[in-house]
Amino acid sequence: MYSPTLLLGQLAVIAGATAAAQPSPVTIRAGGPDVSIAIDNEIRYQAIDGFGFCEAFQRAHALINLPAPYRDEVIDLLFNPDTGAGFSILRIGLGSSPNSTLDHMNSPQPSAHSPFVWDHNDSGQLWVARQALRYGVRTFYADAWSAPGYMKTNGRDDQGGWLCGVRGEGVASTINGTTSACGGASWVEAYAEYLVRYVQSYLSEGIPIKFVGFLNEPNAIKGYATMQSDGYQAADEAFALSLALRASNLSVGISCCEGQGWSYARQLLSEMQDAGAEDTLSLITAHAYKGAPAAPDSPLNTTLPVWITENSPIMQRLGMSQTWYNNGSENEGLYWAVTIHNALTAGNVSAYIYWIGSEPYQVGGNFYVTDPPYQIGGNFWATSHFSRFIRPGATRIGTTTASTASKNDSSSVMVSAYENKDGSVVVQVINNCDQSVTAAVTAPNWVHTPTAWEACEVDTRMTDNTHNLTLADAIYLPADGNLDTVFPPRSLTTLFVKCSGEN
Ligand SMILES: *[C@@H]1O[C@H](CO)[C@@H](O)[C@H](O)[C@H]1NC(C)=O
Ligand SMILES: *[C@@H]1O[C@H](CO)[C@@H](O)[C@H](O)[C@H]1NC(C)=O
Ligand SMILES: *[C@@H]1O[C@H](CO)[C@@H](O)[C@H](O)[C@H]1NC(C)=O
Ligand SMILES: *[C@@H]1O[C@H](CO)[C@@H](O)[C@H](O)[C@H]1NC(C)=O
Ligand SMILES: *[C@@H]1O[C@H](CO)[C@@H](O)[C@H](O)[C@H]1NC(C)=O
Ligand SMILES: *[C@@H]1O[C@H](CO)[C@@H](O)[C@H](O)[C@H]1NC(C)=O
Ligand SMILES: *[C@@H]1O[C@H](CO)[C@@H](O)[C@H](O)[C@H]1NC(C)=O
Ligand SMILES: *[C@@H]1O[C@H](CO)[C@@H](O)[C@H](O)[C@H]1NC(C)=O
Ligand SMILES: *[C@@H]1O[C@H](CO)[C@@H](O)[C@H](O)[C@H]1NC(C)=O
Repeated sequence: MYSPTLLLGQLAVIAGATAAAQPSPVTIRAGGPDVSIAIDNEIRYQAIDGFGFCEAFQRAHALINLPAPYRDEVIDLLFNPDTGAGFSILRIGLGSSPNSTLDHMNSPQPSAHSPFVWDHNDSGQLWVARQALRYGVRTFYADAWSAPGYMKTNGRDDQGGWLCGVRGEGVASTINGTTSACGGASWVEAYAEYLVRYVQSYLSEGIPIKFVGFLNEPNAIKGYATMQSDGYQAADEAFALSLALRASNLSVGISCCEGQGWSYARQLLSEMQDAGAEDTLSLITAHAYKGAPAAPDSPLNTTLPVWITENSPIMQRLGMSQTWYNNGSENEGLYWAVTIHNALTAGNVSAYIYWIGSEPYQVGGNFYVTDPPYQIGGNFWATSHFSRFIRPGATRIGTTTASTASKNDSSSVMVSAYENKDGSVVVQVINNCDQSVTAAVTAPNWVHTPTAWEACEVDTRMTDNTHNLTLADAIYLPADGNLDTVFPPRSLTTLFVKCSGEN
């Protein structure tokens, strides 16, 4: 427990049923609050699809092989919506490699002449998907890093190369003096069929894939599955995949294009639009690692939902850190809270998917699992604040933050708010100052009817260097709908407001 309401301790004891129309006196620190925060649920922004992670690249095995009871604890931390992060999206790496060594995800059809064989395993990811399903996850997103090698200009699924038959790469057997593996054939339709069969394989296991993607960082050339593409070439595959999904009666949305950063995602989207392919898509996907900018600064030019489908502090090789705040580096929890906040507010993003949830190396995943029991990264707590309380189908709503004192606190106080489908309201407040900040939170629209106030319970959870998602005593919203709260230095606080009568 911690007490965010030092200034209004009296308020904490108002009991919903007995408080009647007796608003408690509210004591405010001399000089008044430092910051005022107004919530307005009549201003409505993007819908939120959820938060998630991935266990591709054989990382699922570290989780599967964790000894009991640690394995159960970690799965619970990831998926439990009451006691864990309650992640609501699982990103699945759709394999194209000849085998499952290192960072390879094996293909169900590794050569042109082999049959399509579903191995009921998928590098351990099927097991993770089953755990997710058990906890109520309904958004499964499969994404291929590449087509299998036999479909590509370079004859292999790694080291870049293009899908045979997309515009500009053609199917000629010789390109720039190098003999291509295409052998005069286009594999655009065959790749679409391959993706359909993969989706059907998951369906046969009871896992309904909701979205499928066919590219990942299409400017990268690496020693693992990589396939090059611009937005026009992506359009060629998107048209074919759209037809193939429809022909198979699968109601699965297509996503594109997993550009490595925001600026590149913006370019791929505009090329897709120019090629007339935006209508084939259900989601625009981007990573937030590299570019100018790498992370969302303003919305992409689309009315489709936009997801950040990969990010983590992996690029800086800082290693996973259990620290919440020390020096503001990218592997700390508070930094991560600000990262998600910016994507949701400045970027109009509808989902944020962390790279790997649990992995054996200390490169930046949420958990470090080689040495049981396990360690929890500070960024896990940051993500949990958003994931556990902002449920799929929520809508981001209006907030304004202003400094009311002579201090310049407001620029370091970052606020966002969301209304869940059941009417509960979630307010996320990051205090990035070195001193605590007192804020008057006003939300006239919380109080739906003149007498409903006494039944509005506010659950407050806070993370800082000495607390992890710690729940404070429940408080009840006063009659005027104003709540004065203390936000500790370098903290993230979630106010979860639920009024009785909401369903
Ligand atoms: C796995 O496939 C890669 C090509 O992606 C190949 O270089 C490697 O030799 C294969 N490893 C094994 C053990 O077959
Ligand atoms: C699943 O595949 C992996 C290789 O990715 C292997 O190590 C593991 O034993 C397989 N599990 C089962 C149940 O076949
Ligand atoms: C062929 O050469 C041109 C010009 O050097 C280059 O832009 C293009 O990427 C090359 N294509 C392939 C498939 O290597
Ligand atoms: C898709 O549904 C239509 C109409 O229900 C049906 O005629 C067709 O056979 C189905 N196709 C497949 C591949 O199941
Ligand atoms: C935004 O996208 C539309 C197509 O949806 C396009 O016509 C327009 O030119 C784009 N605007 C910018 C600034 O890119
Ligand atoms: C924000 O995203 C939603 C889709 O999730 C879209 O309808 C809306 O137009 C976007 N807003 C802006 C300002 O781009
Ligand atoms: C909070 O979690 C971190 C790991 O992220 C751990 O090191 C720390 O001891 C925990 N603090 C409390 C008060 O539980
Ligand atoms: C900053 O702190 C993080 C842990 O919070 C640590 O990993 C990193 O090395 C530190 N950086 C510097 C420059 O001290
Ligand atoms: C806030 O005030 C402090 C102390 O006066 C100053 O160092 C800092 O630059 C100010 N920050 C902003 C964003 O104005």
